[in-house]
Amino acid sequence: AVKKRADYRQPDFLIDHVDLEFTLIETTTKVICISKVTRNGSHNKPLILDGEGIQLSSVCINGTEAADYQQTDTSLTIDIDTDTFELRIESIINPKDNSSLEGLYLQAGAYCTQCEAEGFRKITYFLDRPDVLATYDVKIIADKVNFPFLLSNGNKVDSGDLSDGKHWIKWSDPFKKPCYLFALVAGDFDLLEDKFVTQSGRTIALELFVDKGMLGRGQHALDSLKKAMKWDETEFGLEYDLDIYMIVAVDFFNMGAMENKGLNVFNSKFVLADAQTATDEDYFNIEAVIAHEYFHNWTGNRVTCRDWFQLSLKEGLTVFRDQQFSADMSSPIVNRIQNVKVIRERQFAEDASAMSHPIRPDEVIEMNNFYTVTVYDKGSEVIRMLFTLLSKTGFLAGIKLYFKRFDGQAVTCDDFVQAMEDANDKDLSQFRRWYSQSGTPQIVVTDTYDAISKIYRIAFEQKHIATFEQKEKQNLVIPIQFSLLNDKLESLNLGDTDQQQLTLELNETQQCLEFYNVESKPIPSLLHGFSAPVKVDYPYTQQQLGNVMLGSPDEFARWDAGQQLFSNCIHNLAGKTELQQTTSIAETIAMFEPIIESKDISLALKAEILTLPSFETLFQQLDTVNIDALNQSRKQLFKALAQTFQANWLSHYSAFEKQPYAYQSQQVEQRKMQNLALKYLTLSAQPDVEQLLTQQFNNADNMTDSLGVLGAAQLGDLDLFERLMLAFEQKWHADPLVLDKWFALHANTDRSDILARISILMGHSRFTINNPNRVRALIGTFCFFNVAGFHNIDGTGYKFVADYLIKLNEVNPQIAARIITPLIQWQKVDKTRQQLMQLQLMRIGDTKGLSKDLFEKISKSLP
Ligand code: ARG
Ligand code: ZN
Repeated sequence: AVKKRADYRQPDFLIDHVDLEFTLIETTTKVICISKVTRNGSHNKPLILDGEGIQLSSVCINGTEAADYQQTDTSLTIDIDTDTFELRIESIINPKDNSSLEGLYLQAGAYCTQCEAEGFRKITYFLDRPDVLATYDVKIIADKVNFPFLLSNGNKVDSGDLSDGKHWIKWSDPFKKPCYLFALVAGDFDLLEDKFVTQSGRTIALELFVDKGMLGRGQHALDSLKKAMKWDETEFGLEYDLDIYMIVAVDFFNMGAMENKGLNVFNSKFVLADAQTATDEDYFNIEAVIAHEYFHNWTGNRVTCRDWFQLSLKEGLTVFRDQQFSADMSSPIVNRIQNVKVIRERQFAEDASAMSHPIRPDEVIEMNNFYTVTVYDKGSEVIRMLFTLLSKTGFLAGIKLYFKRFDGQAVTCDDFVQAMEDANDKDLSQFRRWYSQSGTPQIVVTDTYDAISKIYRIAFEQKHIATFEQKEKQNLVIPIQFSLLNDKLESLNLGDTDQQQLTLELNETQQCLEFYNVESKPIPSLLHGFSAPVKVDYPYTQQQLGNVMLGSPDEFARWDAGQQLFSNCIHNLAGKTELQQTTSIAETIAMFEPIIESKDISLALKAEILTLPSFETLFQQLDTVNIDALNQSRKQLFKALAQTFQANWLSHYSAFEKQPYAYQSQQVEQRKMQNLALKYLTLSAQPDVEQLLTQQFNNADNMTDSLGVLGAAQLGDLDLFERLMLAFEQKWHADPLVLDKWFALHANTDRSDILARISILMGHSRFTINNPNRVRALIGTFCFFNVAGFHNIDGTGYKFVADYLIKLNEVNPQIAARIITPLIQWQKVDKTRQQLMQLQLMRIGDTKGLSKDLFEKISKSLP
């Protein structure tokens, strides 16, 4: 059934307090839920509770067994005329056989919950919607030996032992919350403890629970948490509220992490790190995800969503906050580039597909399908535009008003924008369209220069094309930051004082700016810092792009110009003749010589500029894609870049002394450059490269350098690659998180027998379809990144994935629906492949017991 945003109605009943009691038994866990219910308004409708897969034992109202109720697969309807009553529901659930990892599940010896978005209904019958806010008291009873730790939200208030080897613990959460923020964890863990003193002087106990034996890998996560707590105080003035903050790391988890009040549950991949097993990227991600979940305590928990269509209210804002935090912790420019890659590779792809939706969707079949790059990452870009338009001061004033008005409430995206509007006295009515309009706007820029009058005119036009679910489009408010460069690569003065950059608020179809006394025709440097999630179209020559790359005052624009240089070259090679100008490989590469030799540019930015745009980015630049030609052309330029600069790569590779590993920016940048150089050396078949690879592999004291070797070796002689992979497996076979890196490397290797390889790996003793990290590493990587294998013109890649998804549909629908993404994005590929992809979609669609998750994506994407 399709749910519509426009159909929102207030709940008929409210629950303001819940008493839960769990007796944890593998296949027959007993749940008693006592709710204080009140009728909301005057009506005589029955109470309809959500529930799925629950075995109901009894229903009592005010202490007497009720008889007047009806059950369906997904609901429990209770006829009642009292306005305020206590509802007691006793039921049985089966955590052991719950492979969906939603609700309460038992995996690897620990009980754990995941309730967002609609998982609480798998635990007990309830009003499972985010606008029903209650305080919770939770009692957990379980075997003491196997489950010494029994955790839930809030503060521990009581505990005791029972005669039969069981014990119990009671938790109380004083903050009202929706049920999606409920959590329960039971198991045996190692515990890392610390403290944080808040700005107002309160001491918060910090507790990090990890699998036994993993204590040595928890420190970075804990340090990250303290940094995040401090940062939120200094930047946003937001302080933690409970006396205890707990984080539990588990191996079986559908997503990254979950912000349950006072008890975050994390995918162990975003907690555990030490030099030997985690890469610099892992360290970065851990810091970012720990911060993200922590920031949710205010943006998500204290102020939550009225309904799930408003998801971006908390996610877009919290992603923006974690991005700002990460930028402050490390390199702002590298961070910004990473954010933009996510938008261009994945969000643009989503907007161009049958799953396109605005950051605030209008229609949903399965809510889990809307935890998307659009809601999260484009949502964050929308917040960032507000930050740009209102300035930091104005934005913070809006945030302050938002909390003043809505603390403790469940609200909408409109409420948020209203607070921004009121605090700044600025009309945001047109800006609001970003919430309701899907699609990637295109900005067409044209300019003229008159040498006699010395007038330069530049015009910006916004264009919107229909998306799958929405034909009519309106003009948006688009902040465009730009500057103008002269022939000497100097920035023109664009204001009264020394102002190099302007921000145009484009809100009409077309707007034109005029500049006087301009000595020669300038080159525009456009969309500084990616000031809006749009595509820009200006007829640059390669020479002009080279000038922007070398001379723009904005580092992002410099990187972006370099990427466009590469992109143009690749598209030309692939025969896309509609592009403005043709350009030879050698000419393009020569333009990067000043970059590779530059001593002033930061190592991090240099490495970014010298990295080719990904296949996914290139794919999104075109309306129709010749997959094979694009893949080949990219490889061709990659190789030429390797060969032309072989000597430079070698000197970059050898430029730094190796120091003992630390996750520290100078070292991170050096490793990044070295491992990039190693890739190029491998591709160029530099004579000593085999020795360099072997040496680095044997001497590496950290995972970044080990993986750097494997990532490079994968591009060269596959025999060497195989030998190294074998050694790696022998060393790490007992470490699931490290082994995931190994599965992923195998899955994206370019080789003709890739499907046979993956089939063998599916039989690997450490592979299991029940673990989302394994499935993502092997099957997900193949679909998303192995272009040649997945898109093999014989259709075997698509069929392989479809076969797998048919199995995964029964085990874990949420993960299946994530992995199907590349298969539904058939819109730009050739007719032959389109048909092959659709054929497989239809096969999956015919599966008996197809989940809502897959059904939604398949039905939307089949023509
Ligand atoms: N709220 C969590 C986060 O952003 C993610 C929850 C994802 N839930 C889902 N059903 N996919 O940190
Ligand atoms: Zn989030």
